[in-house]
Amino acid sequence: MNLVNRLALAVSFASLCTLTAQAAESKGSVEVVHYWTSGGEAKSADVLKQLIEKDGFTWQNSAVAGGGGAAAMTVLKTRAVSGNPPSAAQIKGPDIQEWGKLGLLTSIDNVAQANHWDTLLPPSIAELMKFDGHYVAVPLNIHRINWLWTNPDVLRKAGVAHAPTTLEELYAAGDKLKAAGFIAIAHGGQPWQDTTVFEGLVLSILGADGFKKAFIDNDEATFTGPKMTEVFVALRKLKTYMDPNGAGQDWNMETAKVINGQAGMQLMGDWAKSEWSAVGKKAGVDYECAPFPGTQGIYSYTIDSLAMFKLSSKNDTPGNNAARDDLAKIALEPQFQTVFNQNKGSIPVIKGLDMSPFDSCAQASAKDFAEAEKAGTLAPSMAFNMSTSQAVQGAVFDVVSNFMSNKDADPAKAGKQMFASIKAAAQ
Ligand code: BGC
Repeated sequence: MNLVNRLALAVSFASLCTLTAQAAESKGSVEVVHYWTSGGEAKSADVLKQLIEKDGFTWQNSAVAGGGGAAAMTVLKTRAVSGNPPSAAQIKGPDIQEWGKLGLLTSIDNVAQANHWDTLLPPSIAELMKFDGHYVAVPLNIHRINWLWTNPDVLRKAGVAHAPTTLEELYAAGDKLKAAGFIAIAHGGQPWQDTTVFEGLVLSILGADGFKKAFIDNDEATFTGPKMTEVFVALRKLKTYMDPNGAGQDWNMETAKVINGQAGMQLMGDWAKSEWSAVGKKAGVDYECAPFPGTQGIYSYTIDSLAMFKLSSKNDTPGNNAARDDLAKIALEPQFQTVFNQNKGSIPVIKGLDMSPFDSCAQASAKDFAEAEKAGTLAPSMAFNMSTSQAVQGAVFDVVSNFMSNKDADPAKAGKQMFASIKAAAQ
């Protein structure tokens, strides 16, 4: 083949590639803003990407690092204000209503009706996904927050017979782990991680009812009472067991310390399990899960959901709308619910899915959720956007992290300060 022919072939191959790329593009793309950036989280997000691509759409990944999502929310606000929203974003609980009120979300009722979401989802969860009676978001999972993760090998080496079930046992295990030279509690000193532990202590010391009085009813007496003082005293005590090098550390870096045997325990939501799974570790063998000490029978939770945005006129094409609808449809299909949640550490959000492919921690989680639902001990997490607005949550974060960083702060005054800050933030 002479040069001219070779060139002609190369050119026609190149134009074929361009055409194919255009064809792929013309099917539509869906941009998702989320904060799943740890190893296990990214693997989970990839499940969605692959299923969307299988349907011929393009997945535009807009991941913003930062556990708990504060950084992602800042990016999202900037994008929305400048008229360039993504197709979908990871927004939870009451915040969905806030975005709805701004007129920025779009209805996906067509997908919901065609796929029977009203029968597939527990009614309370379906309600959270609706604004003004219309579905504007799709839930992906249920994450339990009040967990304790342990490395049984490390506990054994330190002479701790089993995962602690009470706060007293937690302190005793902490003492033994420290004495044996381990980090007792892997913990990153970031406000949301501090608040995860604080919330666990509220549940442990005040119970599910006390938690609801505080973070749903905003009951002053609960914040100023002696039990809340106990919570802050316990928080100060737990700090003495936390990773001395944990200042500002990301949660997954701390999980890694439990995985590699430097630390014995971590108090964290079950996305921590995604890190263990991502490196091939097995529940009940390499690691164990137990309720946050003293919270047996209580189930605090958050629900990851993707809210759908009205697209800018430039992006509002039939293809992009079809890609968004495809994302919404896939999210509640059994295949996605199983594989995504196995990777993510959470449990499925749709009713009646077969739990036998899941590990022992996920099976225990599903059982505990059902029991807590019956007993009225489900606690929508404050630290993870389920019971308060972002403003109120931010006020709690500030009080908790200031308390953690000031060794002279008075535990008897912290509850009062929290009540005042919440009140100011709620106005
Ligand atoms: C989200 C999880 C996420 C975790 C850590 C939580 O708010 O619900 O999906 O894995 O934060 O970033």
